[in-house]
Amino acid sequence: MEQYVMKGGRPLCGDVVIGGAKNASLGVLAAAVMTDGECLIENMPDVRDTNVMLQAIEGVGGCVERIDANTVKISGRDISRESTIVDGEYIRRIRASYYLLGALLGKYKRAVVALPGGCDIGSRPIDQHIKGFRALGAKVDISGGMITAVADHLRGAHIYMDVVSVGATINVMMAAALAEGNTIIENAAKEPHIVDVANFLNSMGANIKGAGTDVIRIRGVESFHGSEYAIIPDQIEAGTFMTLAAATGGDITVKNVIPKHLEAISAKLAEMGCTIHEYDDAVRVDARERRLTCTQIKTLPYPGFPTDMQPQMAVVLALSEGTSVITESIFENRFKYVDELTRMGAKIQVEGNVAIITGVSKYSSADIVAPDLRAGAALVIAGLAAEGYSTVESIQYIQRGYERFEEKLKGLGAEIALVDSERELQKFKLQVV
Ligand code: UD1
Repeated sequence: MEQYVMKGGRPLCGDVVIGGAKNASLGVLAAAVMTDGECLIENMPDVRDTNVMLQAIEGVGGCVERIDANTVKISGRDISRESTIVDGEYIRRIRASYYLLGALLGKYKRAVVALPGGCDIGSRPIDQHIKGFRALGAKVDISGGMITAVADHLRGAHIYMDVVSVGATINVMMAAALAEGNTIIENAAKEPHIVDVANFLNSMGANIKGAGTDVIRIRGVESFHGSEYAIIPDQIEAGTFMTLAAATGGDITVKNVIPKHLEAISAKLAEMGCTIHEYDDAVRVDARERRLTCTQIKTLPYPGFPTDMQPQMAVVLALSEGTSVITESIFENRFKYVDELTRMGAKIQVEGNVAIITGVSKYSSADIVAPDLRAGAALVIAGLAAEGYSTVESIQYIQRGYERFEEKLKGLGAEIALVDSERELQKFKLQVV
């Protein structure tokens, strides 16, 4: 079973180039099936989630031509109304396969997708997606674990989202883009990937205004044409490397980023004592000067502090002086990494959706298990901050969203390897003393 082995305890320094945003890619790839033309999509991260989405697209009859690891051509020309069934297999592997619901419903006026269940970070209802599709005139039926959405015509509507939801905003925006007439989505999510998916749809001929604000206005068009599009940089991958600098007392420049998307993370790290330098398309985090201090964090929809950065930040706070408080307000079960971090010496008490963290001066090395994608990356950071050898198992979660993670870490001076057997693990320990 693949795992990471690392010898931590040294400050990590240098430059790291950030890839395309995983979450934006999932929306953009799904949206690409909405045209019979050809879409050339660049800067797509080559990670498990995007690869599963491409398989799901092929599964409904979409044409996928991989140009290279980060570039793909997609066309929906061979998809028929009858083939718009997304196998439950894909939904089990990535929830975001449900973006095909909005995309297929918009273009083919029919989509059948397995109902996504809960997941490792808590129950995740999709009532707002369904509410949006119904408002557009679709008949949505849930039975036997499948969601079937069908319509003769989709008609624009005024939709108020009861919860700020990234997924529902993207899904409804896609379907509405090919509906007749105007749609207004109120209380829309404002995350950078909403803007990216809207920009991509507009590049195919959609008429969407206001993405990035909480009111999105969509004038439906009849059809889309092909397009060439490059995905935005990954806010969360960048943030992960920024917290790596902070946790190891290092100095890391994340390159090829949009600094504005990182403001909530930069601001918290600065508050804790890191020196932050912002450039046009890079951010440098220098944490070499002194021990960082405690702070309070509450996860919120964008532009608030992202829930996907909560575990990585906890790893830094657990090493910072004083008592910090993290309030998780988006997902109910996002402190599953705390037990593992406690085994490394962290002092964290969880009460409901609040974690109270008393800073310790160092972690001890340990053999740990990644509970999910972002928490997995956070535990690797903890292992790299701890002196001695640590291992992280269940790295398939991390591979869902981080491209060439160990390679990028090595480029910053980390002693880390991906090993697949006890023999390889022992070899690493003999080589790295
Ligand atoms: C997306 C991201 C995920 C991130 C999350 C919050 C992707 C592929 N995933 O997930 O990495 O952690 O945004 O930034 O982009 N909710 C409802 N009803 C709904 C939909 C959502 O009650 O119909 C609730 C959820 O339970 C949650 C909150 O709304 O408490 C936010 O969820 P949402 O923004 O939809 O997250 P995802 O799109 O699933």
